[in-house]
Amino acid sequence: MLIRRQKGWEIPERDVTPQALYRNRRQFLGGLAAGTIGAAAATLPAGRVLAQAMDPTADLYPAPRNESYTVDRAIDEKAKALTYNNFYEFGSHKFISDAAQAMKIRPWTIKIDGMVEQEIEIDFDDLVRKMPLEERVYRFRCVEAWAMTVPWTGFPMKALVDFAKPLSGAKYVEMETASQRDTMPGLRQFWYPWPYVEGLTLAEATNELSMIATGIYGEAMPKQNGAPLRLVTPWKYGFKNIKSIVRFTFTDKRPVSFWERIAETEYGFWANVNPQIPHPRWSQAQERLLTTGEEVPTLLFNGYGDYVADLYKDMDGENLYM
Ligand code: MTE
Repeated sequence: MLIRRQKGWEIPERDVTPQALYRNRRQFLGGLAAGTIGAAAATLPAGRVLAQAMDPTADLYPAPRNESYTVDRAIDEKAKALTYNNFYEFGSHKFISDAAQAMKIRPWTIKIDGMVEQEIEIDFDDLVRKMPLEERVYRFRCVEAWAMTVPWTGFPMKALVDFAKPLSGAKYVEMETASQRDTMPGLRQFWYPWPYVEGLTLAEATNELSMIATGIYGEAMPKQNGAPLRLVTPWKYGFKNIKSIVRFTFTDKRPVSFWERIAETEYGFWANVNPQIPHPRWSQAQERLLTTGEEVPTLLFNGYGDYVADLYKDMDGENLYM
């Protein structure tokens, strides 16, 4: 039988006001009462002041764009990328953006454990300020054969691995999504193996393309896209890109991911994009662009082979493309 311990951040909202929000709200209201919103806020438009009060990381956006990672496709419309989502915790269909607004993202504690020098528990708002934030435009390819091009803000996952200080025997990092029973109706679908889990080898996690994204379109990450932090590995199918992460566990055992547990013959550990290897139920040769609906050829490693092909040399018996 599964025994589930309640985690600290799952305390019902009525019992706790998130400290950061509380502190900021007090500052904000205190400033209003005094007839001034404070020196820093006075230079900001009212909308930004409110945004900062609601999200203590709002001042980090937009981050400078790293032009080395631009692509030759048009960036998709923001409204499309923010309203056509996969986030099964909120429903097994694409239109979960309203439902996802119930997710509680402050406070947000991240645990780093397993084969590390020392376990770490850190609040997202503290972690993000230790990391080098930048914007990168990446292609994104869902296993369902739709694709988008979006500007992510975030930091190289290598910076997180360095921060975690894994032991020399660690080979993989397993990531876990939050389980909020009171806000995530999908968790009641007991036939899914919650929580959502994904994994990478450490070589993949420290590849320069791997990113922990905290924002999109120059703003903090919307809940439906995986606030406050999610994985972005643009050469892999989208299901690897786990959202709303609460835990990074370093291990010497290959993690079994959520979808692999459900259907190992359809969704494997590696899940590298390859137009020549069809999904057992559909072709992967073409992809549909989210905004225009245009069908275009899919590229090996989603066009990122120069960065990642070397990771998979001499791995002959592995199902690298499913
Ligand atoms: N992460 C969690 N926790 N739950 C999910 O259902 N879906 C995955 C991935 N990460 C999913 C998840 C899939 S299948 C895709 S295609 C992408 O999120 C979609 O990301 P997007 O909604 O930001 O486009």
